[in-house]
Amino acid sequence: MNGVEQANQLLHKMWADYIKVNPQAQKIFNLLSQNGETVENDHIALRTFNHPQLGIKSLAAPFLKQGFALAGDYFFSEKKLYAQHFQHPDPRLPKIFISELELEKVSPYIQEIVANCIYQIDEKSIQDEHFSLSGRHWNINYSTYQKLAAESEYASWVYAFGFRPNHFTVSVNKLKHLTELHRLNSYLKDQGIRLNSSGGEIKGTPAELLEQSSTMANEIQWQFSDGVYSIPACYYEFAKRYSMNTGELYQGFIAKSADKIFESTNRA
Ligand code: NI
Repeated sequence: MNGVEQANQLLHKMWADYIKVNPQAQKIFNLLSQNGETVENDHIALRTFNHPQLGIKSLAAPFLKQGFALAGDYFFSEKKLYAQHFQHPDPRLPKIFISELELEKVSPYIQEIVANCIYQIDEKSIQDEHFSLSGRHWNINYSTYQKLAAESEYASWVYAFGFRPNHFTVSVNKLKHLTELHRLNSYLKDQGIRLNSSGGEIKGTPAELLEQSSTMANEIQWQFSDGVYSIPACYYEFAKRYSMNTGELYQGFIAKSADKIFESTNRA
């Protein structure tokens, strides 16, 4: 099996894992497909902590083996996040966007909770090519979740869900009919789907070469050691890219826009 086939197989499994916690994405995928659209991914996003054992490097390792290469990096100072994106020479494969929480910048409380979670992960599973869909490796309780969320929604998300796709992103450039992001947004809203309006529904402009929108993460009933609670899970994103002076589509990300997109998993 070559790198592209391996990547497709892994991405397929990641999608299957993702729609388990975000059935709304499958619903949107089906709606678009029934409308005669070809739904292809622009990028897939993963979240982690910048701990030496499982930072971006660990999550990126299987993708690097498949031929992906580092293509950009981004800082989100307010959210205390750092991210890198990886691209494959085969343009049919989506980009992989991996962010990590900068632990040295968060409170001792988050540091301690995260250290305790990481301590429970078996070293072997980190090296497994399926680590990016391995989910959680520790028990969770709701009071800790709430306390984490008060300081960092991002930390609380990884605490509750572990390592799995945070979102998939539809490439609007590949759609045949809903080729304008505002039209796609209207269509989705007509179907009763709630969009993230933090910083406006559309983040970015044609001049910035990238426009993005996303659903608000759907709420799911999630099992904690102290009960079942409804929490925001994953969201679905939509990206339209514009051509650079070279005539090629811009393939990077806009930190200012991504900063707002992160808020799609904020609690209502
Ligand atoms: Ni994204």
